[in-house]
Amino acid sequence: MRHWRRVLLVGGGLLVVDVSCSEPEQAAEEQRARGAALYDMHCVACHGGATGGSISDIPPPHNAEGHTWHHPDCDLIDFTLDGLPPREGYPVMPGFGNQLTAEEVEAILAHIKTWWEPEQRAAQATATEQLCD
Ligand code: HEC
Repeated sequence: MRHWRRVLLVGGGLLVVDVSCSEPEQAAEEQRARGAALYDMHCVACHGGATGGSISDIPPPHNAEGHTWHHPDCDLIDFTLDGLPPREGYPVMPGFGNQLTAEEVEAILAHIKTWWEPEQRAAQATATEQLCD
């Protein structure tokens, strides 16, 4: 991890401020925060939050109890932008292509991934590497 140190001159004295986050980490943190806000606005009503639900629920929870982590990023982005075919008796997964950009969906995914177990995150990252361009 890179460690950034900012030196400020305050009133003639020297104040050294340690900044604990490197710039890439800060950018990732900002992306997750954007994703959290978008998730709360567009997704939480159907998919629920960080905990609860089970793998057989429709709509599925996006947290560690669900199966979202079984899919690589490119599929999750496509499902979100294009929606899924309706299934009788269940709510429909709408397409968000007219409301969200792929970059915004990536931010939502970055937020959702904080809910997964480390092994789930690792398995999903490998699937993304192997199956997405
Ligand atoms: C009106 C309810 C509703 C809203 C709002 C909604 N979804 Fe869904 N979503 C569903 C349903 C129902 C399914 C399951 C469809 C199926 O299995 O055929 C689903 C499935 C999915 C899937 C595929 C299953 C999985 O877990 O991988 C993804 C990804 C997904 N939704 C992402 C999102 C995201 C991201 C948002 C917010 C931008 C969102 N959905 C908003 C109802 C909704």
